[in-house]
Amino acid sequence: MKLFVDTGNLKDIEALAALGILDGVTTNPSLLAREPGDYRQILRQICQTVKGPVSAEVVATDAAGMLREGRDLAAIDEHIVVKVPFTRDGVKACRTLASEGLRVNVTLIFSAAQAWLAAKVGATYVSPFVGRLDDIGATGMTLIREILDIFDHSPFTTEVLVASVRHPIHIIEAARMGAHVVTAPAAVIDQCFKHPLTDIGLERFLKDWEKAQAARV
Ligand code: E4P
Repeated sequence: MKLFVDTGNLKDIEALAALGILDGVTTNPSLLAREPGDYRQILRQICQTVKGPVSAEVVATDAAGMLREGRDLAAIDEHIVVKVPFTRDGVKACRTLASEGLRVNVTLIFSAAQAWLAAKVGATYVSPFVGRLDDIGATGMTLIREILDIFDHSPFTTEVLVASVRHPIHIIEAARMGAHVVTAPAAVIDQCFKHPLTDIGLERFLKDWEKAQAARV
């Protein structure tokens, strides 16, 4: 399963890329709005840092506007994946952009039917939002299983990109189910590194080593 980070923050992206664990980035208008500076320049720098798929979202809500913005975003860098919301206009725009050879991530997916329709029009990725489903008392990961099941029985090459991740358990469940990609905030990826027994174990190893060295002097 590929790991993307869900952020527009270049420092976070650089830190994760340096670890060698990062396969791509997803952004959205809310995330980019938090970053100071020109969004095109930010996206360009992100692409140069990651050299993997970087999702950049349109803000137009009509198909013609999405096409205009999508082509414009794709011209920023070859790594850009155009992100469109799942609406009728988004589906229409996805079909055209995909037929032009652009990669499209259809976002704001909350049902298996939506994922299936997006795949039918050539989406490269569908982004089901598991955390936001959990937030309303549904089970986000159940949707992932449903979509993977449908795609297993279909000729689609569309990848399931698990989004709106809130904690490491979402990541592990996604991997166990065979999801293609997970995108997580930097803070959640950070949590994956932590275990108190690792810290205690390392401290003990170092102390024992130091004691042994001191005894040899
Ligand atoms: C997906 O690409 C979205 O950017 C994202 O995962 C939304 O997550 P949120 O529900 O934490 O805002």
